[in-house]
Amino acid sequence: MDNLDKKYLILTYGCQMNVHESEKLAGILENNGYVSCDNAVDADIVVFNTCAIRESAEQKIFGNIGELKNIKVAKPNMIIAICGCMSQQKNYAEEILRKYPYVDIIFGTHNLSKFDEMLKSRISTGKKVSSIVEDENIELRDEMKISRTSGVNAWVNIMYGCNNFCTYCIVPYVRGREISRPEDSIIFEVENLLKQGYKQITLLGQNVNSYKGVARNGKEVSFAKLLSDLDELNYEYRLRFMTSHPKDLSSDVIDVIANSKHICHGIHLPVQSGSDKILASMNRKYTKEKYLKLVNEIKKKIPDAELTTDIIVGFPDETDEDFEETLDVVRKTEYLQIFGFLYSKRKGTVAEKMDKQVDLKIKKERLSKLLAIKNEIVNKKSAELVGKTYRVLVESASKDDTLYGSLDSGKTISFNGNKNCVGEFVDVKVTMARKSVIYGEIVNEEETRLFKEKNFKLPIECSILPKDQKTMKILRENKSNKKQADDKNSKK
Ligand code: SAH
Ligand code: SF4
Ligand code: F3S
Repeated sequence: MDNLDKKYLILTYGCQMNVHESEKLAGILENNGYVSCDNAVDADIVVFNTCAIRESAEQKIFGNIGELKNIKVAKPNMIIAICGCMSQQKNYAEEILRKYPYVDIIFGTHNLSKFDEMLKSRISTGKKVSSIVEDENIELRDEMKISRTSGVNAWVNIMYGCNNFCTYCIVPYVRGREISRPEDSIIFEVENLLKQGYKQITLLGQNVNSYKGVARNGKEVSFAKLLSDLDELNYEYRLRFMTSHPKDLSSDVIDVIANSKHICHGIHLPVQSGSDKILASMNRKYTKEKYLKLVNEIKKKIPDAELTTDIIVGFPDETDEDFEETLDVVRKTEYLQIFGFLYSKRKGTVAEKMDKQVDLKIKKERLSKLLAIKNEIVNKKSAELVGKTYRVLVESASKDDTLYGSLDSGKTISFNGNKNCVGEFVDVKVTMARKSVIYGEIVNEEETRLFKEKNFKLPIECSILPKDQKTMKILRENKSNKKQADDKNSKK
């Protein structure tokens, strides 16, 4: 790499959708001659791809933008760009521009494909660019160059937006209404990825079950049909999708998964709560009974299915009894993994105005109780895997020849082996479980000697500040020199 190269740093917050959109932003930056780097001091441009799902995400982002101030003072030509779900909200965009006047470019989720124009405009005019719009030509986003950095994993958008308006959730406000991509364009992208050697394709959408695309012949394509058409692609690969809404996961989809060659049996099925009263108030449109029936249908048709879930604790008016209902679903479903969240008020959502908001202390107690039960279940399930052999996709390697891979269920496992195994499927016997973490050994070492090294780009671990002490010291000195100069000026 030549030192004259301009460098970029993208800091990504939030979900897989954002991770993938950052790969599109990286594509634009690389077209403009930038190469990636891992910290803001070296960067000529820093992009914050933001998330607005909970207050904690926002606080972290505000803090991180604030941290850049000193670096910008030392390097005034560095460009700072903010985009994503947080800046899509006009009030936040205004707050960012007011609090952090050194931000150069700000835009939202709807005009991602215009980042190239905004960047060029900032460079040629030196003027701030602020462009928060409501509409976008989505097709432009499908045609963007993507600089993939998720190793053997490739993310593929099948739809954008969300129509569900769960009462706690900001996503429909910052991502707009559902739009499905035409089936052709998805199949073309997936096949190309498989030709390039990607081994795990994840279809992305806020509610993939409501996918309604069109086929080349003009006929409507359901999610079940899209899955079965993709399953026909004749390569060794895994197909995953996220996220499924329980109200729309149809028997057709379950049947397609049960009879497929490539579709994983690990399914993310967010329940959010087990109380009918809370589910109704969340506008989830299913009951505890309907959810558990769906779980039973999945387990009956796909005996080795493994479910994961999201749960919100402390939604307005959640009582101890409501929370017990949630724990009952957790015990009955025996999830492989649970992502538990404290309910966080989001501006503009219906739940923001609801009475009987739950005390933070109670929310935290419920979350730790949920996590304790989760650990019990996950640890027990991990112990049950010991002694069994699974087909594992090797996803990454560390310097000491430890390999990290995933089972069909999505569970990760580590074992010894050479780094040429990355990007291959190998049989691994589970030898040990320590709490929820499992370890194994490759069954046929001999076979792995034939594997060749492949060139998958892994995510760069980004930080705002450099990890080396020398640069940190220079930055601290810059800061204290500036403070002394400011103090002097203000005394004048
Ligand atoms: N579209 C997906 C997930 C979207 S956000 C779905 O419908 O499942 C990911 C998770 O964040 C949600 O499943 C929910 O559990 C959580 N979440 C969303 N809004 C939240 C809020 N206001 N407070 C706490 N957690 C929230
Ligand atoms: Fe949010 Fe509900 Fe849409 Fe998921 S389905 S993104 S939780 S509104
Ligand atoms: Fe966050 Fe936006 Fe995803 S709010 S969770 S980055 S859709």
